[in-house]
Amino acid sequence: MTDIIQEIISLSKRRGFVFPSSEIYGGFGASYDYGPLGVILKRNLKEAWRQDMTKKKLSIAEIDTSIVLNPKVWEASGHLGSGFADRLVECKKCHHRFKEEEMIDGRCPECEGELTDPREFNLMMKTFIGPAEDKQSPAYLRPETCQGIFINFLNVVNTMRLDVPFGIIQIGKAFRNEINPKNFIYRTREFEQMEMEWFCSEGETKKWFDYWKEQRMQWFIDLGIKAENLRFKETGKDELAHYARRAVDIEYHFPFGWREIEGIHDRGNFDLSNHSRQSQKELSLKDPENQSNHIPYVIETSVGVERTFLALLCDVYEKVEGGRGENSKQKTEIYLHFQPSLSPVQVAILPLAKNNPALVEKAKEIYNKLRLQFRCQYDQGGSIGRRYRRQDEIGTALAITVDFQSLEDGTVTCRDRDSMKQSRLKIVDLSTNIFQIISVEKQN
Ligand code: GAP
Repeated sequence: MTDIIQEIISLSKRRGFVFPSSEIYGGFGASYDYGPLGVILKRNLKEAWRQDMTKKKLSIAEIDTSIVLNPKVWEASGHLGSGFADRLVECKKCHHRFKEEEMIDGRCPECEGELTDPREFNLMMKTFIGPAEDKQSPAYLRPETCQGIFINFLNVVNTMRLDVPFGIIQIGKAFRNEINPKNFIYRTREFEQMEMEWFCSEGETKKWFDYWKEQRMQWFIDLGIKAENLRFKETGKDELAHYARRAVDIEYHFPFGWREIEGIHDRGNFDLSNHSRQSQKELSLKDPENQSNHIPYVIETSVGVERTFLALLCDVYEKVEGGRGENSKQKTEIYLHFQPSLSPVQVAILPLAKNNPALVEKAKEIYNKLRLQFRCQYDQGGSIGRRYRRQDEIGTALAITVDFQSLEDGTVTCRDRDSMKQSRLKIVDLSTNIFQIISVEKQN
């Protein structure tokens, strides 16, 4: 793994963004737990996505479906077939499995044992429902959230009285038995997707594909990710997923290379037709002009929460060797330049000295007021320079310091993370001023 990713992993653990899962038991292959700040960042990203999808003047409804669905769903969707399987070889000695294309000399990379011929291994995670482990009736953890949308298509159309074009969105967990999870939270077996299925007429698929492709790219830029670190990549015809007629990925330039963070897919009417056949239910809409039934076509946008999280962390991460020279003896300083709307902590409230009861009382009073409006942290431990460093490392936008002058004239200093500029603000005007400062998003 690259040095920068190692630094980000270490910062994530040190500051409570991401912990290795089951750590006290020695960890658990490529699983991660989200700490207090990681949870807030994830929530902010999901909310930013939801707002962005639903604020447009388009018809979009959100649903939340089960993780374990009737196994017939996966027959109809094609996931139980070879379309969702990896071709793997297995070592006859240590039983490790490897992708066929990764083998060089036909021996096991772990123990040099002899390998089996390649076989297909399905990526879906199997489970058993009910009291007995019945091998005849396995169920599966969903490998993508969108199938819950397709099978509820009629429920949503009927309850919301929708007609094309419209979208159904869902945020939720998905699971894949990835043979090669890697690069921290980039590829894991359990992850969250934010998906939209956009239902439209067959003749409008190209128009909507182009529309959503641009909209989705703009979303990443609006999060503050630098445009030069983002690009589109058209998927070759021979690499398309089994359900797709066309696919364009949005890629981010990670320290380990350009990698997909979102897929935009033209799924044709593959899913609704297959579910209609399998369930024997008419999953179509009536054409208001000629009253004929038609199955809508689908453009899908599908983005991973964790990949967005990692791309954002990489993009806002800055290491300043030698420091910026402010109240600091530290040699290396780290900054996360989050936009204030995404920062897990927006405002830190710091009494200049923790052993002065009047300063502490005033700072706590301010904290208790501001926390009703902003994501705040109260911190009284260590020198003021150290406390600024800590806040910079978690990407806090503003630090409010309560000093002796505050007790005399009712003002505090407000320090901006990125410019380090300090201004003196009246306590009575604080929330209005902070609101103004943080609602102007910082552009990279
Ligand atoms: N419904 C379409 C679909 O699932 P996909 O390209 O397989 O398409 C969409 O996945 C997005 O889900 C990816 O761009 C990525 O952000 C996320 N994703 C997929 N597999 C992942 C994994 N193993 N770990 C983390 N995120 C993953």
